Amino acid sequence: MDLRAHIRDVPDFPKPGILFRDITPLLGDPTALQYSIDLFAEQVEDYRPDYIAGIESRGFIFGMPLAYKLGVGFAPVRKPGKLPAAVHTASYALEYGSDTLELHQDAFPAGSRVLIIDDLIATGGTAAAAAKLVEQTGCTLAGYGFVIELVGLEGRTKLPDVPVTVLLQY
Ligand code: PRP
Ligand code: HPA
Repeated sequence: MDLRAHIRDVPDFPKPGILFRDITPLLGDPTALQYSIDLFAEQVEDYRPDYIAGIESRGFIFGMPLAYKLGVGFAPVRKPGKLPAAVHTASYALEYGSDTLELHQDAFPAGSRVLIIDDLIATGGTAAAAAKLVEQTGCTLAGYGFVIELVGLEGRTKLPDVPVTVLLQY
């Protein structure tokens, strides 16, 4: 299965000069969608996660079916002000300014192994902030899974030293 054939390149989105890797054709193809979740599951089961933390919003799309397939729990890592109970917060730098992510303080029982899932790693700021949230829960970061890695942006260098699975590199 050629997953790359199901990623659409959209020039100048969301800003001029950016070549956006669009996952919606993959989501719309039943065979490619099933294959991507099955491949993810095969590649991350060795990390022995107890929970998946999916990053808003495209990390929810892949994280939830993966949690179902692995038979583990799921927790959403959300943009600020969306989670109703007590949260941990972690901020990360953007080109101009900063952004924040939140996770419920009681998302995982003590001692859990947590796998972070997102659709894409670019600069790595988002994924690194998600790791800070897992750290605040006192749980163990088991690894990361991304559908797409934009290799040239060297996002991996921002991540803690845990295993990383990617399905496609650009
Ligand atoms: C995109 C993508 C990752 C993040 C990667 O999300 O889904 O979460 O950017 O960028 P980084 O590695 O440079 O931090 P976006 O903020 O566009 O949110 P969305 O998933 O809600 O569209
Ligand atoms: N595609 C999708 N999401 C992204 C991208 C991209 O190329 N860059 C940063 N977030």
